[in-house]
Amino acid sequence: MGCLTVNNLKNGMVLSEDVLDINARLLLSKGQKITPKQIRILKIWGITEVHVVGQKGKTNIEAPQVDPEIIEKVKESTKEIFKNVDLEHPAIKEIFELSVTHRSQTCTPLQKDNIQFQINENFENKKILDIRKKIEKLRIKLPEIPSIVNQLNEITADPYASANDVAEVVNKSPSLTAVLLKIVNSAFYSFPAKIDTVSRAVTLIGSKEITGLALGLSTMQVFKDIPENIIDMKSFLRHSLLCGLISRIIASQKNMPQTEQMFVSGLLHDIGRLVIYKYFPDQAKSLLISAFVSHQSLYSVESGLFGCRHTKIGKILLKNWQLSNALESNVRYHHQPSGAADPLEAGIVHIADVISNGLGVGSSGEKIIPHFDYEIWDDLKISPQLFKPAIDLAVHQLASLEMFFKSNN
Ligand SMILES: [Fe+2]
Ligand SMILES: [Fe+2]
Repeated sequence: MGCLTVNNLKNGMVLSEDVLDINARLLLSKGQKITPKQIRILKIWGITEVHVVGQKGKTNIEAPQVDPEIIEKVKESTKEIFKNVDLEHPAIKEIFELSVTHRSQTCTPLQKDNIQFQINENFENKKILDIRKKIEKLRIKLPEIPSIVNQLNEITADPYASANDVAEVVNKSPSLTAVLLKIVNSAFYSFPAKIDTVSRAVTLIGSKEITGLALGLSTMQVFKDIPENIIDMKSFLRHSLLCGLISRIIASQKNMPQTEQMFVSGLLHDIGRLVIYKYFPDQAKSLLISAFVSHQSLYSVESGLFGCRHTKIGKILLKNWQLSNALESNVRYHHQPSGAADPLEAGIVHIADVISNGLGVGSSGEKIIPHFDYEIWDDLKISPQLFKPAIDLAVHQLASLEMFFKSNN
């Protein structure tokens, strides 16, 4: 018996153990023969490896072996990222261990990147710049949300709107249509037959899912020109997408109905940071340097420099764009979920953000987990054992989704 990655499965092999999905539902039973159809099912559900009969003791190791010395070094450096949270707490303990494993296997560079400019500024003498006032009183022109997103939001709020109505709006933008069709035909959804119209895509995956993807694609487009010497946008996108995917997976583990809203909430959770990076580049540099030099989180440094945090700036932007109150609240309170209209939704984004920061898959500029809301953790009643399958699935989905977001930029 051995454990094989799905990509190495061959026709006719026999499963030696049941295969369960992320919610512990049975997908394939022990004893079943592997066929192309079964392989497709496994890929659809994001299963990366299964146990099969035979292989004459040649157990295929599911994860690359890493030198124990490297693991020890990674563990020590990862402790720095987790220094603000309690490593004895069961949730944190699990996230820490998964982070060490992931960082060791993927050789994630220790958090020195993103400070690409010279540390030669006297940032300590910078006066507090009240960004919120600047944005609100001086009417700094915030980016406009593409009108197509507003139209999509309106139409999905209409209970009588059909798949054709949604498709009609999407079809107004040839570039969006092309990318959406590429996504729905990709391994991310793995539908057996080619989907060649947006209306068919909407019927299959839902208008809210399509709107969520359109919103994400359009939003990232707005911020694509932020200079690399301030933030690596690819890294920012990776962090945002992973947070969105983990938020959605945890929401589905909790049987929450609005999983696509959770994806968008996670995707946009740090959007306030993009406003800072785009419109206040000098202050952004001061912020990044200040956090780097003082070994503190951006979150703890930013209010001292700007008079408010990225969460509030994100809320102002989303309000300006007239996006849903739920989305605005999840973004505004992703660091303090108890203040949100729905603390459990904001709490899921909070936990997904902590996991994303821990794993070091991309970064919004943050190098240290700012804090962990232990109360919301208790309220959410999530088993830490669900983190590993959630992370495996999210990382698997990230690979295909990221490509489309990048190519749209
Ligand atoms: Fe944040
Ligand atoms: Fe974040």
